[in-house]
Amino acid sequence: MEFTIKTGAPEKLKTSCLVVGVLDGERLAPPAADLDKATGGALASILATGDLGAKAGATLLVHNIPGVAAPRLLLVSLGKADALGEKAYRDALSGAAKALASGRAEDAGVCLVDVEVPGRSPAWNIQTATRLLADATYRFQAPGVGQKEADKPPGAREVTLLTRHKVSARLETAVRRGQAVAEGMALAKDLGNLPANVCTPTYLADTARKLSKEFKLKVEVLEREDAEKLAMGSFLSVAQGAHEPPKFIVVHYKGAKGKSPPVVLVGKGITFDTGGISIKPAAEMDEMKYDMCGAASVLGTLKAVARMALPINVVGIVPATENMPGGGATRPGDVVTSMSGQTIEILNTDAEGRLVLCDALTYAERFKPACVIDIATLTGACVVALGKIPSGLLANDDALAAELVARGTESGDRVWQMPLWEEYQELLKSNFADMANIGGRYAGTITAACFLARYTKAYKWAHLDIAGTAWVSGDAKGATGRPVPLLSEFLIARSDAAAD
Ligand code: BES
Ligand code: MN
Ligand code: ZN
Repeated sequence: MEFTIKTGAPEKLKTSCLVVGVLDGERLAPPAADLDKATGGALASILATGDLGAKAGATLLVHNIPGVAAPRLLLVSLGKADALGEKAYRDALSGAAKALASGRAEDAGVCLVDVEVPGRSPAWNIQTATRLLADATYRFQAPGVGQKEADKPPGAREVTLLTRHKVSARLETAVRRGQAVAEGMALAKDLGNLPANVCTPTYLADTARKLSKEFKLKVEVLEREDAEKLAMGSFLSVAQGAHEPPKFIVVHYKGAKGKSPPVVLVGKGITFDTGGISIKPAAEMDEMKYDMCGAASVLGTLKAVARMALPINVVGIVPATENMPGGGATRPGDVVTSMSGQTIEILNTDAEGRLVLCDALTYAERFKPACVIDIATLTGACVVALGKIPSGLLANDDALAAELVARGTESGDRVWQMPLWEEYQELLKSNFADMANIGGRYAGTITAACFLARYTKAYKWAHLDIAGTAWVSGDAKGATGRPVPLLSEFLIARSDAAAD
């Protein structure tokens, strides 16, 4: 989707579809009020029919309104004025985006971005709108499968954002950022949605290599032998039951002038999780192709960051392997030595995410990071605790946690913090190694994070459990692209702060 931003009168805009926000209530506010005037009261009489739903995001498409240059007018409800906050704004944009993505209009003029959202700047409005509009155009094209999706109308491809503010460089940047984040999300969704027989560790490595050709990124791929030399015994113990070769992928983005410690992102890259010898039940096991969504979000975020050319350094690390129950697979009770030297008794081979992450977290030390954030579809317990609204957040640094919570609210890609208290560490006790890889029935998300905390003492660290947020199940089954918006916002804010 192409975006332009300009200042102008909505009724005069030459476009296939004019999109106008309407507050529910007695009096029309601009730009709807101006449009009503220009149409000699036509807008008010359409609204008087009550055909436009009152809920934010409801839409009504009308045609050939005298006084409006555009042949189509898409009215979008913003809900009640006193309830107009971030959620209503997003809902309105999502409603408009959905209508545009499935409609016939090939271009559109959107006058929704001048709404006053309490506590948010015009640039926030623009970036949010651009991202939501662009993201709604995402469609997964399965490789080698017919053109069913491609046959659908393509939806609006060119969007003009109309504002009454002067178009500043800040607003132009906001447009580009929104677009870049949507692009990063699209990559993350594609990787997540691809079947596990296509999206293998090798495929993830090739995707990283391809990115490095298109953008200013450097990629290293460590093979099994390299991981052996580094003594990544924990990572390799997960890979040993699979035929697919594991890949340990490292992506460098250098955007900062001069030396500056990088933000390191570590993404769980289990391209399929059968559970290993502690095998999972059959129901919905197909969804374990999404067990590499942490990895996908790291690559998606790096793509967005590189597209925006942010002045910051970022390293992405993706330990990628399948978790399979092959003849060489790890047995419950096996003891392995991680790269850190700490030993692990593997009591459940289905708790494999932490086993690949711990070696990646140890590897991260060499970059002397400003902070490390790992992203993982780590525990079913997280979905039980928080549902599918926020991602779980656990951290060894409260300032970093607070920063992520703030960026989550800003981007609408929210996180909720859980405690990482020392008391929980006891649950990982093992009679045969430094720790067990599971902590029993209770507090599964916390004990998983406690395990990782033993490998992150050298730096500021946050863990995002995205088991509930990385994809949706059911009729609309598909990857969400989360938490690319959160991570991108985090890195944008960090680079803006560095530039000030
Ligand atoms: N990838 C799963 C977690 C998961 C399960 C995410 C369902 C989303 C939906 C992870 O590897 C796993 O199997 N975790 C176990 C841990 C347990 C054995 C301690 C779990 O959550 O059951
Ligand atoms: Mn598992
Ligand atoms: Zn898993």
